[in-house]
Amino acid sequence: MYHKVLVSYATRHGSTEQMAQWIASGINADQVDVMDVQNVKNIRDYDFVVLGTPMYNNEPLFQMKSFITNHRAELEDVDKAVWLVTTEDDSDQTRQLYIDKMENYLPGPIKFSEVFSGQIDLNELSDLEKQQARGYFNKIDVPMQSYNFLYENDFRSFSGMINDLLIK
Ligand SMILES: Cc1cc2nc3c(=O)[nH]c(=O)nc-3n(C[C@H](O)[C@H](O)[C@H](O)COP(=O)(O)O)c2cc1C
Repeated sequence: MYHKVLVSYATRHGSTEQMAQWIASGINADQVDVMDVQNVKNIRDYDFVVLGTPMYNNEPLFQMKSFITNHRAELEDVDKAVWLVTTEDDSDQTRQLYIDKMENYLPGPIKFSEVFSGQIDLNELSDLEKQQARGYFNKIDVPMQSYNFLYENDFRSFSGMINDLLIK
């Protein structure tokens, strides 16, 4: 059977896009399209949709939320997997809360959801973002600093789980 997979992401600073590329490169399908959610026109043709968004101020990025709103009917009918991008310091409880939040936004079958630690480069942030980040880090009681937890290997099992589902 011909399998067509969409890996689509929202991003502000690029780490979720990098993850999308890694995830896509591990998927064994006849066609794997990687696209910013803002560029996705039609998802009816896909057998499987993988959606990734970073958390900003405890919410999925608004581009992801508006994508879901605009494609609600199509998303209802397709199998999906989700990855969320957070800080390294979030507790398991917070991570579960993020998963619940995203799964509540998304209609239809969600095969699995995972959380990955992302990246912050303080030099890249606008003053407003720095201020927001400071508020966020204060709340979780860790010092605000640059970090990078992006590792390609972390995504192999995520892609592998999608491959297993495609074979079934
Ligand atoms: C202003 C700001 C707010 C953030 N808020 C959260 C948050 O509420 N929860 C969280 O887990 N991570 C938060 N993060 C961390 C981001 O999710 C993380 O840096 C992610 O890698 C960013 O993804 P991107 O590079 O694709 O935009 C925040 C980062 C910034 C800069």
